[in-house]
Amino acid sequence: MSRHSSSFLKRIYAVIGIVLLVWSSYLVYILVMHIWHQHGEEVENMAISEEEKLFKEMMKDKKEVTYNLGYKVIKQEDIEKHFHHIGDPVMHDSINICIKCHGDIPHDKNKAIRAFLNMHSDFFACETCHVRVDNKKFIWYNKTTGKEVDNFEISVFLNNIPQKLIPLLEVDGKFERLDSDSKRNFVDEFRKMLPTLSPDKKSQGLKIIHKNVSKNPVKCDECHAPSLSQSYLPLLEIGYKERRVNQILSNEVVGMVEKYKEFYIPNFLMPGQTK
Ligand code: HEC
Ligand code: HEC
Ligand code: HEC
Repeated sequence: MSRHSSSFLKRIYAVIGIVLLVWSSYLVYILVMHIWHQHGEEVENMAISEEEKLFKEMMKDKKEVTYNLGYKVIKQEDIEKHFHHIGDPVMHDSINICIKCHGDIPHDKNKAIRAFLNMHSDFFACETCHVRVDNKKFIWYNKTTGKEVDNFEISVFLNNIPQKLIPLLEVDGKFERLDSDSKRNFVDEFRKMLPTLSPDKKSQGLKIIHKNVSKNPVKCDECHAPSLSQSYLPLLEIGYKERRVNQILSNEVVGMVEKYKEFYIPNFLMPGQTK
C-alpha cells in the first residue's frame, strides 16, 4: 500500500470517528434532557398544593360555551368559575341540613351540568330537587336565621340572595318543613357520634337522613317545561312575576336544557359508575 493511500484511509477513519463522537454526544444529550425533564415535572407536581392542582385541572377542561337566551348571555365558563370551582360568591347556608355534610357546592360528578346544578343550589334548597313532593307547597327561608320569608317577589335573576326555596312535606294532613328541629338535632348528634359508630349504625343513620331523598332528582326540563302547567314548580305561587315565569319557561332556556337530557340516567343504573 502506498504512503498516499494509507494517509487517505487514516483521514477517512478520523472523519468516521468524529461523526460517531458527535452522534453519541447527541444521544447522551437527548437522554440527559429526557431524564432531567421528567424529574423537573415530578418536583413541580410535588410542590403545588391541592388548590393549585384543582386550578390546573380547571384550566385543562376550560370550555367557553355561551348561551344566548335572547335577553341575556350566559357563559358556561364564567358560571363554572363562580359556582363550581372557586365558589366565591356563593353565600353559605347555615340552615340546610344536607349542606352540613355535603357543603354548599356539592355537584361534581356530571361535568356537563354540575355548574348549573351548583348555580341552582344557591337559591334552591337541596330538597327542592332531591325530595319530590306531591302537594306542591314551598316556602322561602333565610339562609342565616332559617325564618320563613313572606311575600317574596322575584322579578330579576336571583344571584347570591339570602333566601332559599324548600318544599314542605305533608304528614297526616299537616305541612312540615323538611328541615324540622328534630331532624336538625338528629343530624348534629349523628355527626358528633360518627367516629364511634359501627358501620351498621352508620348506614342506618344515613338511611334515616336520606329517607325522603329521591333516586330521581328533578331534572332541568321538568322545571323549564314548555308551559307553566307542565312545570314541576308552581312558579307564580312561589313568587315569580309573570314576565320572569315566561323567561324561565322560554324557548331559549328549554332549548338549551334539552341538550342535557342524555345525562339524566341516574348514576346507579350505569354499570361501572359510582352508585
Ligand atoms: C350526616 C351526613 C349527611 C347528611 C346530613 C346528608 N347526607 Fe347525603 N350522603 C352522605 C353520605 C356519607 C353519602 C354516601 C352514602 C353511601 O356511600 O352509601 C350520601 C349520599 C347522598 C346522595 C347520593 C350520591 C351519589 O353519588 O349517588 C345524594 C343525592 C345525597 N346524599 C343527598 C342528600 C340530601 C338531599 C340531603 C339532605 C336531605 C343529604 N344528602 C344529607 C352524607 C350525608
Ligand atoms: C336544580 C336541582 C338540584 C338542586 C338544587 C340540587 N341538586 Fe343535587 N343533583 C341534581 C341532579 C339532577 C343530580 C344528578 C346529576 C347527574 O345526572 O348525574 C344531582 C346529583 C347530586 C349528587 C350526586 C353526584 C354529584 O356529585 O353530582 C349529590 C351528592 C347531590 N346532588 C347533593 C345535593 C345537595 C347536598 C344539594 C344542596 C346543597 C343539591 N344536591 C342540590 C339536582 C339538584
Ligand atoms: C326545580 C326546578 C328547576 C330545575 C330542576 C332546574 N331549573 Fe333552571 N331555573 C329554575 C328557576 C326557577 C330559575 C330562575 C332563577 C331566578 O329566579 O333567577 C332557573 C334559572 C335557570 C337559568 C337562567 C335563566 C335566566 O332567565 O336567567 C338557566 C340557564 C337554567 N335555569 C338552566 C337549567 C339547567 C341546565 C338545569 C338542569 C341542570 C336546570 N336549569 C334545572 C328552575 C329549575
